[in-house]
Amino acid sequence: MKKTLLICMVAAALVCAFALPSLYAVDAPGDMVLKVPAGAKATKSPVAFSHKGHAALDCAKCHHTWDGKAAIKKCSDEGCHVDTSKKGKKEPTSFYSAFHAKKDMSCVGCHKAMKKAKKAAGPTKCGDCHPKKK
Ligand code: HEC
Ligand code: HEC
Ligand code: HEC
Repeated sequence: MKKTLLICMVAAALVCAFALPSLYAVDAPGDMVLKVPAGAKATKSPVAFSHKGHAALDCAKCHHTWDGKAAIKKCSDEGCHVDTSKKGKKEPTSFYSAFHAKKDMSCVGCHKAMKKAKKAAGPTKCGDCHPKKK
């Protein structure tokens, strides 16, 4: 009896693990190069980003305003991380904070937290994401 229950639970867990991602109506794009929004001046080189390399994470971990259905917004869209000035860097509305804030949903914030927890993490050094221009 107990064994059957265990098998059922494992089966249910497996169904959840594989069925969940396909619940999303939107597909994640392939490899991307992230740049400053149009009109802003870049001081650093563009950053390579791979959805595949982050497939283990829930979409909403990064797309934190997404309802799971509507079109996914860009980080720099109206009402989001729009401020590209150097002065506003520390504010949550800054473009900079979207990628570097000490928050789990930012690139650097998450990578640093994972590193601290001694788990597999992405790069944390400036030059590893913004390679020196040749
Ligand atoms: C995990 C990757 C990652 C790391 C590490 C990282 N950044 Fe970024 N940074 C990004 C992303 C993504 C953007 C947004 C795309 C862009 O502007 O190229 C960005 C944008 C920026 C911008 C605004 C755009 C510009 O070109 O002026 C600045 C300034 C910046 N980063 C500085 C730094 C500095 C300084 C460090 C080290 C302290 C650093 N970054 C570390 C990913 C990273
Ligand atoms: C580790 C963070 C992260 C995760 C997890 C993630 N994404 Fe993204 N995604 C991004 C970033 C960063 C961008 C670029 C946003 C921008 O251009 O401002 C992006 C862009 C997109 C875009 C294009 C939006 C546009 O208009 O350019 C779509 C669609 C998308 N993601 C879907 C997904 C889906 C679906 C999932 C879950 C299966 C997912 N993403 C998981 C970080 C993530
Ligand atoms: C919520 C956590 C989280 C966020 C947010 C996140 N990452 Fe990562 N990232 C990881 C983890 C975990 C790994 C290590 C995966 C592995 O080695 O299995 C990783 C690996 C990477 C790698 C190396 C592997 C690869 O995919 O090429 C790069 C580069 C990277 N991240 C860039 C970024 C950038 C740029 C952003 C922001 C746009 C970002 N990450 C946001 C968790 C995160």
